[in-house]
Amino acid sequence: MTIREVPTTPFADQKPGTSGLRKKVPVFQQPGYAENFIQSIFDSLDGFTGEALVIGGDGRFHNREVIQAAIRMAAANGFGTILIGRGGILSTPAASHVIRRYGAFGGIILSASHNPGGPTEDFGIKYNISNGGPAPEKITDAIFARSTAIDRYLTLDSADVDLDRDGETRVGGAVVRIIDPVADYAALMEQLFDFDAIRALIGGGFRIAFDAMSAVTGPYATEILESRLGAPAGTVRNGVPLPDFGGHHPDPNLVHAKALYDEMMGPDAPDFGAASDGDGDRNLIIGKGLFVTPSDSLAMLAANAHLAPGYARGLAGIARSMPTSGAADKVAEGLGLPLFETPTGWKFFGNLLDAGKATICGEESAGTGSDHVREKDGLWAVLLWLNILAVRRQSVIEIAREHWQRFGRNYYARHDYEGVDSAAADTLMVELRGRLDALPGTGIGDLRIEAADDFAYHDPVDGSESRKQGIRILFEGGSRIVFRLSGTGTSGATIRVYIERYEPADGDLDRETGEAIADLIAAVETIAGIARHTGRTAPDVVT
Ligand code: G6P
Ligand code: ZN
Repeated sequence: MTIREVPTTPFADQKPGTSGLRKKVPVFQQPGYAENFIQSIFDSLDGFTGEALVIGGDGRFHNREVIQAAIRMAAANGFGTILIGRGGILSTPAASHVIRRYGAFGGIILSASHNPGGPTEDFGIKYNISNGGPAPEKITDAIFARSTAIDRYLTLDSADVDLDRDGETRVGGAVVRIIDPVADYAALMEQLFDFDAIRALIGGGFRIAFDAMSAVTGPYATEILESRLGAPAGTVRNGVPLPDFGGHHPDPNLVHAKALYDEMMGPDAPDFGAASDGDGDRNLIIGKGLFVTPSDSLAMLAANAHLAPGYARGLAGIARSMPTSGAADKVAEGLGLPLFETPTGWKFFGNLLDAGKATICGEESAGTGSDHVREKDGLWAVLLWLNILAVRRQSVIEIAREHWQRFGRNYYARHDYEGVDSAAADTLMVELRGRLDALPGTGIGDLRIEAADDFAYHDPVDGSESRKQGIRILFEGGSRIVFRLSGTGTSGATIRVYIERYEPADGDLDRETGEAIADLIAAVETIAGIARHTGRTAPDVVT
């Protein structure tokens, strides 16, 4: 089969964000758009001739088309083996595991995570390296630089590969192997968790509701929760991945998983409710009568992880992204473990996990995970919770209360202002940055600003520096407001405001979050002037 060099010209907008390149489907459907980006990935890598590449996605609209193009291009560029999840499906954590398990050179993951799917909705391409994690900035910067100068991509003429039949076919010089997307991942979960204990818990009548949101975790959750752990049929809802996620946002938060939330707060609530996002890396945890914030979930999982066989030897350290609450810090302090504070984006955990400095990581954006893969992992978080519940034989609410009584409670909320004019959002941040030196020592109502800075991260493993990662306003007493612009949006800007107040273990642990942080919410406008800059007087989403 002859390799074809197709002439092309650059697209100016292929800069990867927090998590790869994300655009609307019609943007990706422009002739050469996906091809340019994929070739820019290959052109930024060295030494993959004859090596294996993993390709898979969350099944959203346009998934199969890009997979077929990527297969031809990977073969034309010299990869030796191309591993593909059957049906073009691989959840993001499963892709990470497959890359590691088969010693692949890297992987291409097709997803726009929790963003909606469909002909006019979102699509994305992300490259992961051989450790199974997202490419570090050095590589994503190189990919972007290449995308601005690209003049050809390599492909070959071959028939579409049948993605729905297991087995091997040849495309050019490469072997394309279709693999079961669930089997390897499910086996890994059986190693980490005490499936017998969880099975006994469920057998005793413990009720679970898992909402797969018509996204990729459906087949994984059905196999693990229903087939292997014996939960009754129907435990997994919306379990069939759909190209448009049934028209919903596959985002497991209190807005988009409201039905589950309402059920969990109702009189006939199951014991445990959970959901995962489009590509299976995020999680939502709701106990009967209690939503567990992602920041709290990280802290509670870290404090109890030793109850699961995979973590019985204890943790090396805990890592959290900067805007994530300090609840995990209290656990690290209590257990005498190192705590790492990184910029937003799972890729920053990769070095810490590889170096064995951290075992468990988490982000306020509903991501939790460990060193078992190099992505956050929605079902993993669900299974760790179930393992802990099976051992402790307490309810989620009891575990949470005991946790706060030991470590104190971080009341926490995130306010998002979505679809804001990008220039206005930039001006807001620039203005705020300009005032950082003047803020310390000033007061707003009863609050006194102790320090203010623009978060910068010095990676302790490779020494790299990442600046301008979010503005932190720190108040006396440990309260905090953080401002940053989202790096994952596909249109306009999203301003995220993270608000947190620490209540010590002997303080009032049973307040409503909104009331506990009301004075901080009021201070947001004084500090940043969101209404003045954007015309917005209230956030679009509060999580
Ligand atoms: C993705 C990344 C996460 C990140 C999240 C929020 O899910 O994988 O690591 O925390 O996006 O990013 P954003 O820039 O939108 O706040
Ligand atoms: Zn995701």
